[in-house]
Amino acid sequence: MVEAVQGAGVVVTGAGGGIGAALARRFAAEGARVVINDLDGVKAAAVADEIGGIAVPGDASAIVADARDALGGSVDVYCANAGVAFGGEEPGQPLDEKSWALSWDVNVMAHVRAANALLPDWLERGSGRFVSTVSAAGLLTMIGAAPYAVTKHGAYAFAEYLSLTYRHRGVKVHAICPQGVRTDMLDATGAAGDLVLKPTAIAPQDVADALFKGMEEDRFLILPHPEVAGYYEARAATPDRWLAGMNHLQQKWEEVR
Ligand SMILES: NC(=O)c1ccc[n+]([C@@H]2O[C@H](COP(=O)([O-])OP(=O)(O)OC[C@H]3O[C@@H](n4cnc5c(N)ncnc54)[C@H](O)[C@@H]3O)[C@@H](O)[C@H]2O)c1
Repeated sequence: MVEAVQGAGVVVTGAGGGIGAALARRFAAEGARVVINDLDGVKAAAVADEIGGIAVPGDASAIVADARDALGGSVDVYCANAGVAFGGEEPGQPLDEKSWALSWDVNVMAHVRAANALLPDWLERGSGRFVSTVSAAGLLTMIGAAPYAVTKHGAYAFAEYLSLTYRHRGVKVHAICPQGVRTDMLDATGAAGDLVLKPTAIAPQDVADALFKGMEEDRFLILPHPEVAGYYEARAATPDRWLAGMNHLQQKWEEVR
């Protein structure tokens, strides 16, 4: 039980389905008042109806003011969850600029813009909680998906920056870094996802459970797949060995796709 969640005003972006909907359901079950944001207004409204929340459709980059109004004046917890993934890149082909731009915008800049809008109030009050749905790709990279892997590293670094800058001023930050989670996004990852992510994929509610456990324990890094801790250590300790292992996966993917 996380005491601070009962009655709190919570925003979850990209909550029309997948991990965001699971986070919204769990916060609502714990007694929070929840704003459900999604670009897809129909999906956002369906989740809001289901859990007694409030739908605020639109681009996650610019919803803090509307969400604050919907919650009666303040946001206590902000889950920057909306994300986009492009994958299946052909080795040797130039990477598409549009995919890069949208990935930066949604996976990184939406978090920056939300933090800019939230921090003045949080610093004045001396409290606030920023939850970033990153990905294990933000710690470990992902084959065939450069814009995703690079921007998720950016999202992770931004969450670290927020935590180290504001933790003594009452702002708590959590970075959730799962591997495969059974959602529409995973279904769209093709052969690379089949190889790397699907064998150990978990359910969206497992991610919500991991977040709540991490909040109880006051941890920054939330690893719904605990084995990611060992991979992250190996990457830091022996980068060439780790890269050789990842290249082995790349070659396997090139054989099967
Ligand atoms: N599924 C996985 O395997 C996996 C693993 C690690 C991390 N993640 C991350 O989890 C988050 C949620 O992904 P998911 O798997 O639930 O995906 P999903 O595709 O099921 O849901 C993402 C939702 O975000 C919405 N969205 C996209 N752009 C938006 C924007 N600009 N503003 C508002 N909403 C927007 C979509 O409409 C969609 O409903 C993402 O950040 C993703 O990168 C997913």
